[in-house]
Formats: sequence, C-alpha cells, structure tokens
Amino acid sequence: MPLSIAIDGPAGAGKSTIASALAGRLGIRCLDTGAMYRAVALYMIRMGIDPGNRESVMSEMPNVTITVRFIDDIQHTFLNGEDVTGQIRTPDVSQGASCVSSIPGVRRALVPMQRAIADDISIVMDGRDIGTVVLPDASIKLYVTADAEERARRRQKETFEKTGEEIPLEAVLADINERDLRDMTREDSPLKQAEDAVLVDTTRMTIEESVEYALQLVREAVK
Ligand code: DC
Repeated sequence: MPLSIAIDGPAGAGKSTIASALAGRLGIRCLDTGAMYRAVALYMIRMGIDPGNRESVMSEMPNVTITVRFIDDIQHTFLNGEDVTGQIRTPDVSQGASCVSSIPGVRRALVPMQRAIADDISIVMDGRDIGTVVLPDASIKLYVTADAEERARRRQKETFEKTGEEIPLEAVLADINERDLRDMTREDSPLKQAEDAVLVDTTRMTIEESVEYALQLVREAVK
C-alpha cells in the first residue's frame, strides 16, 4: 500500500513548505493541489472571464486541460500543455483560484486526477479538502494552521523575497482573510479539519520545528 499523507489548512500556514520538506525527508513525491486550481484561474483571467462567475467558468471548462508532471521530482503544472508553474503565484491568481475552487464542477474535474495520482505512488498531498474528500483513507492527516497575523507576516516576507515587492501587512492580511472565509464557507468541500486529522499549529514554530514535528507525527502513525 502506498503511503499517503494529507495536509490541509488555511493560506500561509506553512502547508506547502511542510509538505515538500516531508516528501524530501521520506523520499516520496509531493502534490500541491492548489496549483491545479490556480491554473484553472489563470486560464479564466487570461480569457477575461470573472473567476467568480460560475456559468462563464463552467462553459469554458471543456476547453481547459490541467496536467501535472514531476520533473526532477519537482511538480510542474500545465495548462493546455503550457508549463504555467511560474505564472500562478500572483495575488490575482490566488483570489481567482479561491473563486473557481468554490464551483462544484471545477472540483469534479480536478479531484479524480488528484486521487489517481495517489493511487499508484506514495505521496504527500496538500490542499483544503485532502483529508476530508480527496484522500479520506490517508495514512495520516495533518491540519496545519497558524494565527492569521503570523500567516500574513510570512506571506509578506515570502512575496518580498520572491519579487522584491513590499505589500503592506494589512493588505496581505485582508487578502488572506477574504480567501480563508471563502474557502471555509463554500458549500462544496469547505476547508475544515477532518475529524481524524492532527492539528499542527505553527504560530510559534520555526519551519525546521514544524517539519520535525510533522515528521515525528508521520513516523508514529505509520510505525
Ligand atoms: O494552496 P493554494 O493557496 O495554492 O490554493 C489556492 C486556492 O485553491 C485556495 O484559495 C483554495 C483552493 N484549493 C481548494 O479549494 N482545494 C484544494 N485542495 C487546494 C486549493
């Protein structure tokens, strides 16, 4: 049986960092499912379609093919054959992804692909509904969170390091809060802690501490 580790939680809690570090330490792959929703949002934005307009988004979905490939063990996300890995991290795409992901038809298109990837190989998967919907029988489920202000500070620092852009903390916090509220209150697969998920609050942890703690939880769960 392949190992499956489900990691869910709100934006900026450290999910992706923990997920990829865990995957590296365990020598298995890591699937960032948010990237797939981001690629759908990028398509809609490029086409001039409001990602929040369900009808317009759904009428375009037949023209959207999202694929994922691992190149040197790093996930690359493709939109209709184009590698968009580097173009899906903008604030517009973040908000757009949160909007398209609340549309049940979009989830119906992506969830089976995510499940199929975990069928064959051991994997760490991060998202919002991994423990609750995508992999309900995961070997272990972690719900990674942190105080909203701390998450906003981390996002602000990350954006500055990546782009040199200094976004005011209040703006980052507002963006995070808006996304979290939408992700937590949508009807289909809202973000919530699965009953059998272990809560990992990283507010007062360094990245290294969070990874060590997560690794310890995984080792205890699968021994
Ligand atoms: O993890 P992320 O910030 O890249 O995710 C972008 C958006 O996609 C997020 O606002 C919610 C949505 N998402 C989702 O609904 N389900 C997932 N499994 C992953 C992401």
